[in-house]
Amino acid sequence: MIRTLVPDVLRYGDHSRLGESIYDFPHQWGSKRTGPDLARVGNPNGDGNPKYSNAWHFQHMANPRMIEGSNMPNYPWLFTQKTESARSLVAKLAVQRMLGVPYPDYTEAELAEIVDTQAKEIVADLRGAGAQTEPDREIVALIAYLQKLGKYETVTPVKTATK
Ligand code: HEM
Repeated sequence: MIRTLVPDVLRYGDHSRLGESIYDFPHQWGSKRTGPDLARVGNPNGDGNPKYSNAWHFQHMANPRMIEGSNMPNYPWLFTQKTESARSLVAKLAVQRMLGVPYPDYTEAELAEIVDTQAKEIVADLRGAGAQTEPDREIVALIAYLQKLGKYETVTPVKTATK
């Protein structure tokens, strides 16, 4: 979470709001921070543009030393390991819905279609920038996640009863 401190807001973007994490299970707000705050890395200025391209994330996860002196570890397995199938996503979304997250009740086929479409878009974009991978690799899912950070839709407050 981006704190309300001026240096945080200047460096990472607008401070985090409680509503942005309302559906996080478990909640992960805390004071421990090793690398920079990533809460708005997909939309730091609020204009819908990410801080980094897909290709930047691809290279950076392979070798964070593209930033001189970085102590971030390499994540080589993201480029070889495959993501879970849509079948396991169906079960995960069912648990999230049980906890109150308003995910639609997708079928396995619908989820497979959504995941596949988004993954192929990212892979095509990466190829255009000279980075080769396949849609079913973990790096593609991680890039999708990172580029989503900070792009949350406004959470409509639940109306409370008035006396
Ligand atoms: C899946 C895990 C991780 C992801 C997705 C990730 C992603 C990123 C990204 C996107 C940046 C650039 C942030 C910016 O410029 O605003 C960054 C920077 C950084 N990360 Fe990570 N990171 C991960 C794990 C780690 C770990 C485990 C460490 C340390 C033990 C770490 C330490 C750093 C540091 C110190 C920076 C600052 C720039 C640099 O020195 O590279 N990261 N990370």
